[in-house]
Amino acid sequence: MSNLNKFKRFTVTSALPYANGPLHIGHLAGAYLPADIFVRYLRLKKKDVVYICGSDEHGAAITIKAKKENTTPQAIIDKYHNQIKNSFEEFGIAFDFYHRTSSPIHHDLSQEFFLNLYEKDEFIEKFSEQYYDEEYHQFLADRYIVGTCPNCHFENAYGDQCENCGTSLNPTDLINPISTLSGKPPVLKPTKHWYLPLDKYQPWLEKWIDSKEGDWKVNVFGQCKSWLKSGLQPRSMTRDLDWGIDVPLEEAKGKKLYVWMDAPIGYISSTKQWALDNGKDWKQYWKKQENEADDSCLLHFIGKDNIVFHCIIFPSILHAHGEYILPQNVPANEFLNLEGDKLSTSRNHAVWLHEYLEEFPGKQDELRYVLTSILPETSDSEFTWKDYQARVNNELVAILGNYINRVMILMHKFYDGKIESETSRITLTDKYLEYEIGRYYDDLGLNLEAYKFRQSLQNVMDIARLGNRYLTENEPWKTIKIDPAKAKETLHNCLILIGHLAVCLQPFLPATAKKVTGMLNWPEGNIGFDQEIEFKSGHQLNAAALLFEKVEDEVIDKQIQKLQDKKDDAAAAKQVQITPAKENINYDAFSAMDIRTGTILTAEKVAKTKKLLKLTIDTGIDQRTVVSGIAEYYEPENIIGQKVSVLVNLEPREIKGILSQGMILMAENADGKLSFVTATEDMHNGSVVR
Ligand code: MF3
Ligand code: ZN
Repeated sequence: MSNLNKFKRFTVTSALPYANGPLHIGHLAGAYLPADIFVRYLRLKKKDVVYICGSDEHGAAITIKAKKENTTPQAIIDKYHNQIKNSFEEFGIAFDFYHRTSSPIHHDLSQEFFLNLYEKDEFIEKFSEQYYDEEYHQFLADRYIVGTCPNCHFENAYGDQCENCGTSLNPTDLINPISTLSGKPPVLKPTKHWYLPLDKYQPWLEKWIDSKEGDWKVNVFGQCKSWLKSGLQPRSMTRDLDWGIDVPLEEAKGKKLYVWMDAPIGYISSTKQWALDNGKDWKQYWKKQENEADDSCLLHFIGKDNIVFHCIIFPSILHAHGEYILPQNVPANEFLNLEGDKLSTSRNHAVWLHEYLEEFPGKQDELRYVLTSILPETSDSEFTWKDYQARVNNELVAILGNYINRVMILMHKFYDGKIESETSRITLTDKYLEYEIGRYYDDLGLNLEAYKFRQSLQNVMDIARLGNRYLTENEPWKTIKIDPAKAKETLHNCLILIGHLAVCLQPFLPATAKKVTGMLNWPEGNIGFDQEIEFKSGHQLNAAALLFEKVEDEVIDKQIQKLQDKKDDAAAAKQVQITPAKENINYDAFSAMDIRTGTILTAEKVAKTKKLLKLTIDTGIDQRTVVSGIAEYYEPENIIGQKVSVLVNLEPREIKGILSQGMILMAENADGKLSFVTATEDMHNGSVVR
């Protein structure tokens, strides 16, 4: 079963988020909340643990976003690094260090890794034909190219990975590749790159992965096995890009490291910076120790789209380097959906953390609770606002909050909040409670160490359920009148149980645990899992504080509506296909046109045509005939007197036997709807438009 106890030291990482957008609930549920709970648990068990993360600031994810927002990659990473860091802090994700891959220490370490492998002759150097966008003069790697996945036929697979089935790809694997820059099919051009020989490592990888059978989650183990089965190919660790870490070779000038080479090294460089700032030795957390038993236990928390990089590619790099430990486990989560649909940044179908913080101030633990209850641990799961409301109201308010509140109120009502007993300290006196609590603690530990966070949260709630039952059965509000000693004992037992809740809640709902500790008037700081729960006689409790509030229907309806509005907006925006801009012209070409304001005097349909109207227009210069293709949109009788703009020096042309002398200007939108373009102020006919 669990083998964590043999480790003294832990190096825990959560995937470095791309600094190209804000965080949403899917991020939290994928790689951060589970890791945070796990790390908090380890700390309560007094383990030596470092929890590391940071922003992933290289790769096409960043440069494409910069292009979209019409700004620089640097501006993008600065903006989102800070926003992301803040969201993590607000939700209590307790990293020891949150770094960024744009830092010099990270650039140095990544280049050091590359050179280490280069000098060992690990890389295969080869010229190959790679896709190139002729319009943008750029090679197209990774997210710069999309096409159909050869594995699952998903149509929007990236050049390095299909996010639908998780397969890692090379751009040349894609069916019908399209450049995301120009939207056109690319051409092939030769270029030189440095490849990691994954095929060479395959036998070693197979042995290593096989040793994880039964230990790793089935979804993770299964994916690894299936890639190994289809045979690994060498994978380029360099890119023709202008944003990223320079390849530290003279002959590779202008080339950058592949983002998936540098980003995982970010775990190490982040640990290095933390160690520097805190007087620690980073090597203890990353390097193989003299005695294997002293090696740190390395754990990578990620989402399922990152499995190949953490289970195949990064371990291969670490292995090739030789001095580093390998992950003990990679507890990847599946995906979280939202209200029946995939979470999507581009369609803005998400619950954004920064928005939640604004709209639900102080309610971080409510979201932590709901997300932990539905973590996509073994299969995709779904967040809905109705479920959020139900879980907050029926579980947090009705079970946990209610229990603690009832006990606190009774303690204050009967004893002014003072714990007094004949003995010098009070401990649990009910054997059944003791037995049950012990059982929940054991389960809690086992479940946490098996990465079953949903179940472990239920173990904690079971303690609150137990308390509610015990309180209801023993009715201290009745026994106080006939058997006051019994009432006191009941409430003291209830308080011990609250003490246990304060301990067990810490990994899951840290802010709530703190509030409960405050009510109990315990000293601040973490309370260890092995600590005896007791109170000294004479101990004074603090006032009961409100833990959770009921979520009203309006609040939830508003959120559901907000998602629907965003969907409608996205659907509307998607339909508008803006016509691309034409080539530039010089001013002379423009000023050669003589455009005047005019008024339509008469209008009639041109016989045997659907589209044409014959108009007489007062141009200020003269009254002339213009044939115009607007009959499908305007009834002749409705446009008499309409102000228009007319190109008056267009060569006259015969249309259906009528001499048309000029053209009126019309705007046409993406739906083909037409509108007259004219002066917005009252102008005399013949005014010049320029
Ligand atoms: N930025 C990547 C993503 O969001 C994750 C990087 S994890 C690391 O998918 F290992 F590379 F750091
Ligand atoms: Zn696929």
